[in-house]
Amino acid sequence: MSETRESWAVVTGSTSGIGRETAVGLAEDGFAVVVCGRDHDRAEETVKRIEAAGGKAIAVLADLTDPAAVRALVAEVRERIGDGTVDVLVNNAGGGEFAPTEATTEERFDTTFTLNVKAPYILTGAFAPGMADRGRGAIVNVGSLSTTMAASGTSAFQAAKAALSMLTKSWTAEYGPRGVRVNSVDPGYVLTRVNEHIRDMFDRYLTDLPAGRGAQPEEVAEAIRFLISPKASYIQGATLTVDGGKNSVVTM
Ligand SMILES: NC(=O)c1ccc[n+]([C@@H]2O[C@H](COP(=O)([O-])OP(=O)(O)OC[C@H]3O[C@@H](n4cnc5c(N)ncnc54)[C@H](OP(=O)(O)O)[C@@H]3O)[C@@H](O)[C@H]2O)c1
Repeated sequence: MSETRESWAVVTGSTSGIGRETAVGLAEDGFAVVVCGRDHDRAEETVKRIEAAGGKAIAVLADLTDPAAVRALVAEVRERIGDGTVDVLVNNAGGGEFAPTEATTEERFDTTFTLNVKAPYILTGAFAPGMADRGRGAIVNVGSLSTTMAASGTSAFQAAKAALSMLTKSWTAEYGPRGVRVNSVDPGYVLTRVNEHIRDMFDRYLTDLPAGRGAQPEEVAEAIRFLISPKASYIQGATLTVDGGKNSVVTM
């Protein structure tokens, strides 16, 4: 009976950028998609794009810097998908202001960790047990090149993404033996809304980048989609770096 239940993918941060392209791709792969974010109009744009391609999607809005809103999102997803099952979770929403450590307020530190670590923690705690009970599921955490490489002036964000990276391994230990594959995708520089206002800053970054350009969001989404697909059936606890070669070269 469970085989006939509708299979859902929850994609946080799917009102734009990497998350939106991931949501659209997963709909093409046959999942009904829960589109998440804060912006109603952009959420509806994602839903309409999926529906126009023949897929199914609903929008559930929540500010993931607020743990109560994350819990409310879980409740709303459960209510609205009815008999469906959440078989995929993409913890993609993330970010944080660039600021020196001494200028990062405790409040800002906390919201950065809530968005990048605590929200994924609550969502995984809510949805992974069901996947494990059914013996199948996939979770992808979207990290950052900052998980392994530091840049000055973004310490809270880097620490949060590093914590999320460890959770990929922790959840692999916890849920992997029961059929839930958990992996990370670490983007480098992607041309999305999040860094629109600091494009100039990336001129220096691009000089020694083998790819010679920033990524389009769909190039990162394809990596996420692959890790969720049966083609990645033996990949667990891994990090797929999608950075145009940045992490592999040193300038001589
Ligand atoms: N772009 C890059 O160069 C880059 C590099 C490394 C890592 N990443 C990571 O990639 C992920 C996706 O980023 P992106 O580049 O695709 O950026 P984006 O286009 O700005 O998308 C960010 C998404 O996250 C959602 N979001 C942000 N804050 C939120 C909050 N407080 N509550 C709920 N949703 C929130 C946004 O939704 P609303 O706007 O609707 O709230 C939006 O859908 C992030 O985790 C980011 O850290 C990006």
